Amino acid sequence: QNVSPRTPTGDVANEDPDPIAQHGSFLTTSAGSRLQETDHTLKAGERGPSLLQDHHFREKITHFDHERVPERVVHARGAGAHGYFEAYGNAASVTRAKFLAPGRTTPVFVRFSTVLGSRGSADSVRDTRGFATKFYTEEGNFDLVGNNIPVFFIQDAIKFPDIIHAGKPHPDREIPQAQSAHDTFWDFVSLHTEAQHHTMWNMSDRGIPRSYRMMEGFGIHTFRLQNEEGHTCLVKFHWKPKLGVHSLTWEEAQIVGGTDPDFHRRDLADAIESGACPEWELGIQVFEDTPEQTYEGIDLLDPTKIVPEEKVPVQLIGRMVLNANPRNYFEETEQVAFHPGHLPPGIDVTDDPLLQGRLFSYIDTQLTRLGGPNFNQLPINRPHAPVNDMFRDGYGQQAGHTGVAPYTPNSLDGNNPLTANESDAAFTDLPVTVAESVKTRAAPASFDDHFSQVRLFWNSLTDVEKDHVVGAYSFELGKCYEPAVRERQVVNLARVDESLAQQVAESLGLPVPDVRGSEQTGDDRSPALSQLGGTWPV
Ligand code: HEM
Repeated sequence: QNVSPRTPTGDVANEDPDPIAQHGSFLTTSAGSRLQETDHTLKAGERGPSLLQDHHFREKITHFDHERVPERVVHARGAGAHGYFEAYGNAASVTRAKFLAPGRTTPVFVRFSTVLGSRGSADSVRDTRGFATKFYTEEGNFDLVGNNIPVFFIQDAIKFPDIIHAGKPHPDREIPQAQSAHDTFWDFVSLHTEAQHHTMWNMSDRGIPRSYRMMEGFGIHTFRLQNEEGHTCLVKFHWKPKLGVHSLTWEEAQIVGGTDPDFHRRDLADAIESGACPEWELGIQVFEDTPEQTYEGIDLLDPTKIVPEEKVPVQLIGRMVLNANPRNYFEETEQVAFHPGHLPPGIDVTDDPLLQGRLFSYIDTQLTRLGGPNFNQLPINRPHAPVNDMFRDGYGQQAGHTGVAPYTPNSLDGNNPLTANESDAAFTDLPVTVAESVKTRAAPASFDDHFSQVRLFWNSLTDVEKDHVVGAYSFELGKCYEPAVRERQVVNLARVDESLAQQVAESLGLPVPDVRGSEQTGDDRSPALSQLGGTWPV
């Protein structure tokens, strides 16, 4: 009776419902051996040297040495929360996605973030904010990976490394843009006039939110929905905060950044802990799915454009409440992996060239960030739906796959899921006609207008908001050492609005540019990049 073999179910560790959760009255190694003590290394005599034999020491230090995973290449700084989404049911007329059907409630995890700063940077900086939501639907995960600004800097994903390189800390000194030279960012923005729209939102109060709880969210791209009858429509997603949209003033943001760099993550966690659970309503703008995919001349595949809500009102289709903080930041907020291609049946992507590129990028970066191909098995990423992907092995494999034939069809295992799944529950690639059959890198002419919506945004602002925008451009451009960069950006502002350009030019001590030629002809197209040498063509 003294010596008995261990059985798979009869040992101490397996009686613990969560054997790796680190609780209990004694310490063990990671293999479960009880430790006598953990404060001193094993040495040859009290005064050493230390012995290589000390497995516990080596294991402890080795694990510590590997505690850090790479931070996200963008959106590294974030804060997350759990909650639920309640569908109003009215979207069932446009989509067969079950989580939007009447009476459905779906668990969610949301991660808010800044874009450019590193994991340890301050919350209150002027930047775009990420607003990424994972809906754990019964039909698999739906990730709505959006921002708090309704447009994006660039129109084609191939430019993403360029805009991020221009905005990240300078390669020589690793000093962030926000604290020193701003030349590379404004060099990029002034040369890529498609970025003017997003940038003016950044320079407005939207660039310095008061709280994550008080931000709108936007899916930005146009998505395609399909209903039970097979009818399709195009939509843009919007989150509307119940608390309204509020911002910090620039002075407040500076003080907050210095006194409490964790201002936004603290605000979110404190609010939820005290029961003041933030809420948003989800809405959609709905467009007819025509071959042109335009609305009144606005190309719906151009992510630098909005469709004004006065023209196409946002129809509210559900409500989200965030009511629980993560219990462990690393496990949940750091390891969560969003992907714009995680879509349930009834929601599909469009050919927006920015969205198309994102479909590649997220899984690619997560393979490195989360150490191999099995990160969707992590608890925070696991769908609340059965998974039968026939994937096998790989770093971090958690699943105890059985059977000998991980392929289908097979005649050995009896595990033969339908490969041609015609059931209504399956995601179907919609039979959309591909518009152009000639291979080309050219962008459509409908992407050429880079200024009219910047003017629309500027004209929508109150006088106080306009003052803030002038102040922001003046401050940011004032940090540029290169006169040509400043001048070029002020010319861009003149193409938006004369008084804006005049005020910024005056505060920078620059001459007011004259662009009346292009304004009078209503020409809002981007000047050819080849013309952007030392002098700007006006
Ligand atoms: C991360 C939004 C464009 C590549 C993120 C996150 C958000 C976001 C919210 C943070 C997700 C999180 O909290 O974990 C957007 C929006 C875009 C856009 C709204 C345009 C409309 C792009 C493009 C690319 C890209 C064009 C690349 C071609 C990435 C990468 C990450 C990321 C690599 C890090 C993902 C990770 O490590 O898990 N983006 N993004 N994004 N984005 Fe985007």
